[in-house]
Formats: sequence, structure tokens, C-alpha cells
Amino acid sequence: MSTMTLDASARTEAAQAELLGVESVAHSAEVRKTVGRPFIEIAKLRMRDVNVCYGEIQAIHSVSLDIGCNEVVAMIGPSGCGKSTFLRCLNRMNDTIEGCRVEGELSLDGEPIYGPKVDVVPLRARVGMVFQKPNPFPKSIYENVAYGPKIHGIASRRAELDEIVENSLHRAGLWNEVKDRLNKPGTGLSGGQQQRLCIARAIAVSPEVILMDEPCSALDPIATARIEELIDELRANYTIAIVTHSMQQAARVSQRTAYFHLGHLVEVNDTETVFTNPEHELTEAYITGRFG
Ligand SMILES: Nc1ncnc2c1ncn2[C@@H]1O[C@H](COP(=O)(O)OP(=O)(O)O)[C@@H](O)[C@H]1O
Ligand SMILES: [Mg+2]
Repeated sequence: MSTMTLDASARTEAAQAELLGVESVAHSAEVRKTVGRPFIEIAKLRMRDVNVCYGEIQAIHSVSLDIGCNEVVAMIGPSGCGKSTFLRCLNRMNDTIEGCRVEGELSLDGEPIYGPKVDVVPLRARVGMVFQKPNPFPKSIYENVAYGPKIHGIASRRAELDEIVENSLHRAGLWNEVKDRLNKPGTGLSGGQQQRLCIARAIAVSPEVILMDEPCSALDPIATARIEELIDELRANYTIAIVTHSMQQAARVSQRTAYFHLGHLVEVNDTETVFTNPEHELTEAYITGRFG
């Protein structure tokens, strides 16, 4: 055999071994209970033994987690591991998906999120959401922000609405860029501006919690940096849960990080600990890039 062939077959074997190694970590390591620090003293959101099924398929397996006031919790993990599904449980967005069933105890300030008397409209005002793709309404910048306060009866007089719109755009870091064109369509803004408009729309109804599902994945690095700064500022007034496919982003914006794997919550801990000294072998395999 020539040296070249040897090298090539050695490389293939190494690649296969690596693959097998990854496979065996992914499937052999058991997730019996979440390691780290999933619970905190005073929880804003409290989730216990949450299971979610799409028809016959279980997407979330017995997940328990607390999220506190003024904290950003990042949810990371490979694609398809249930991050979005879990996030959507927190303001009952899964209700809109046919065949999706949520079980378990979920509460906001101690009140059940899935209680029989819960009206999802005010719940979603308390627990707002920002999606992956900026989705402004086909209305003016002003109307995008004023819409929520109007339908929730938070403000009706023009002067009150003007104040809420200005204040929300300020807090979303967009006011200076749009103050002279409030009557122009929201869809005419750049991607990063549209996402800040969606954040302004979410905060206009004075939510307590903001859920963000990969809010920067459609944005360029500058717009991403702006949103990350904003998340840090918003933390002073809100509870934030953010799904991100970027470990760097999780490290930059969050105080605790939750690692999901195949529908299980493997590990939750202070963000720095998760990235520098993970406890579970699956977390370590993921953060060192062995799969994902
Ligand atoms: N609307 C849906 N109907 C059926 N299955 C779904 C639906 N949304 C997600 N799933 C399944 O649930 C699992 C978790 O998906 P998802 O929560 O989107 O993961 P992630 O956000 O981590 O990528 C996947 O197996 C996915 O195929
Ligand atoms: Mg997702």
C-alpha cells in the first residue's frame, strides 16, 4: 500500500471513530435529572415536570426549571432538541399548534399558566414574545407599537398612546432612527430595525416576561450587537428567556444557561460555569463542538 492510501484510510478510520464517539455520547449518556442549578429562590416563572407531545411524539421530557426576575436565561442545544417548543409553553403559544399537548405545572408569579380560568390574551400581554424572523404588522411604525396598548385597553387617548409609543421606541433603542417617520410602514425598516420595532411592540403592553426565539438569527453582526445590548438593558425591568443557536451569544447576554438535548433539560447553571466547567458530559460534548 502506498503512503497516500494509508493516510487516507487512517483518516477515514479516525473520522469514523469520531463519529462513533459522538454517537455513543449522544445516545448512551442518560439524562435522569437536570444537573446544576435549575431552581432559584424566588421564581417569576416556575415549571415542573413539563411534558410536551406533538401527536404521538414526545418533544419535551419532564423538564423542570425556574426563571427569576431581572434575569436572562439562555436556552441552547442542537437543532430539534425542543428549545422553541419549551419556550412556547411559557405563554401558551403551543395552544395554536394542532395536536400539541402540554402537561405539567407551569406558573407565573405562582398563578397557573394553564389554569381553566386563564385568558390567553392578557397572559400573552404579560409574557410577550419576539420571533426569529422580524414580523412587523403591515402598518405604520407608530401603529405597530400602538396596536397592543389599544387592544388591551391600556391607552385610548392619543396623547397617552403617543407617550407609550415614544417611550417603547426609546427603550427598544429605535426612537432616534424613526422619530421623523413614524407614519411610514414598519416593513420599510432594515432587518435589525424591524426586530427592534418588534421588541418595542412587545414592551408597549408592559409585559413582565419577554420570550425571544433566536431573535438575531436573521440579523447582521452590527444589528445583533445592538439587540444584545438591548437585552442587557431590558433585564433591569423584565424577565427574559432567550433561545439562541449561538453559544457566544448565550455567554454574552445571559446569567444562566440551560442546555437541552433530545427534549431533555440536561444542565442549567450560571452561564460562566456552563461554558467553562460543565458538569454533564453531554453539555461538555456540545460546547466543545462535538455535535450540534
Ligand atoms: N408544529 C410541530 N408539529 C410536530 N412536531 C413538531 C412541531 N414543532 C416542532 N416539532 C418537533 O418537536 C421537536 C422539537 O422541535 P423544536 O422545539 O422546534 O426544537 P428546537 O427549537 O430546539 O430546534 C422536533 O423533533 C420537531 O420536529
Ligand atoms: Mg427552534
